[in-house]
Amino acid sequence: MKAWILDEPGSGVRLQEVADPRLRSGGAILRMLAVQVPGYTRALTEGTRGGIATPTVLGIGGIGRVEAVAEDVHTVRPGDIALCTGFLSTGRIAHPEEVLLGWTGIGGRGVQTPATDAMRAVWRTGTFAERALMPGSTLVALPGADEYGDFDRLAFLPWLTVAASAVEKSELAPGGRVAVIGGSGRMGGAAVLLALARGAGSVAAVGRNTAALDRLAALDPRVQPVRSVGNRRADAEAIVAALGGEADVTLDALGPTPTADLTMAGFDALGLDGAMVLLGGVQQDLPIVYNEVMRRRITLRGSWMAASETAYAVWRQISSGVLDLRGVDVVPATLDDPATVLDRAEQTSGLSFVALRP
Ligand SMILES: NC(=O)c1ccc[n+]([C@@H]2O[C@H](COP(=O)([O-])OP(=O)(O)OC[C@H]3O[C@@H](n4cnc5c(N)ncnc54)[C@H](OP(=O)(O)O)[C@@H]3O)[C@@H](O)[C@H]2O)c1
Repeated sequence: MKAWILDEPGSGVRLQEVADPRLRSGGAILRMLAVQVPGYTRALTEGTRGGIATPTVLGIGGIGRVEAVAEDVHTVRPGDIALCTGFLSTGRIAHPEEVLLGWTGIGGRGVQTPATDAMRAVWRTGTFAERALMPGSTLVALPGADEYGDFDRLAFLPWLTVAASAVEKSELAPGGRVAVIGGSGRMGGAAVLLALARGAGSVAAVGRNTAALDRLAALDPRVQPVRSVGNRRADAEAIVAALGGEADVTLDALGPTPTADLTMAGFDALGLDGAMVLLGGVQQDLPIVYNEVMRRRITLRGSWMAASETAYAVWRQISSGVLDLRGVDVVPATLDDPATVLDRAEQTSGLSFVALRP
């Protein structure tokens, strides 16, 4: 089969003909149908976004058709359309450890341990390939997906699921005011869609790319675009003005930024008893004042990846029409030319993403 191989960070991604994966205990083989290529994939392969176990077939997430299932796997059945989460846990209740397969990412404190090394050694597998062997526990069957049919758009399910988990953690109530910092990005756009589906009363989509913000605003009259001017106080005031009051919830979905100012504008915009959930890729320290968290009774939470149950809940929202993906644009691509596809993924912005059709 054809697959994208990463020999080591910085070596570049190669298209290679490799042996088809062979079924083994605990696993299932999928024919990949559509896989999102995140905008920062090239940066990740260069090693600037954390360690990655190599050599590996690259790629996380994706929608596939299950071709074969080991006799001890029951999460999926042959013929199912399923989501590959790539999110593998030891399942040890006392001290769970989590890794991402075919990608960077170790959960918790992000530290390699014998358990995380073993998981990434046994399951050295990714989804930027015609076929993938995945642990059964990382697969979520999507009943009805054949009828839905739009596998390209379904490739956005991993991002939607991460965003949904953050929205769940925020305990957003119907009618609530939500600020999405980085609303102009893909994760931010996903967070806007999930907040709307959960009944947000108003959503401030905050970012620099006005075209992306305006597109979101055109999807639903509850969305207000807020163009960041790069000044913490002015940005916070603009968010509060756009929402018609202080935010109940701030979701931060920014990529790496040179300062924490925009994140902190989202913090400043929160009202009494507000909740802030961090789900982006910001690499800065946050200057948070103890007294402000205490007096405003603010909840600050992090959100990394998501439970399979959340992925299934998002699929139910999509299949029932509560979550409409027609506002999400797909740029289709094939495995043939990795460098061009990575360029395109980097250049694609807003609620648009590159979907590989392996
Ligand atoms: N929590 C999790 O489990 C999880 C899972 C997957 C990804 N992530 C994280 O999510 C982050 C966002 O991913 P994505 O796919 O949404 O990326 P993306 O589409 O590239 O969006 C990046 C966002 O960050 C903003 N941004 C970037 N540089 C900025 C700067 N210097 N100043 C102000 N804003 C800036 C962009 O604003 P403009 O476009 O308006 O410039 C855009 O809103 C990633 O960094 C990743 O680490 C987290």
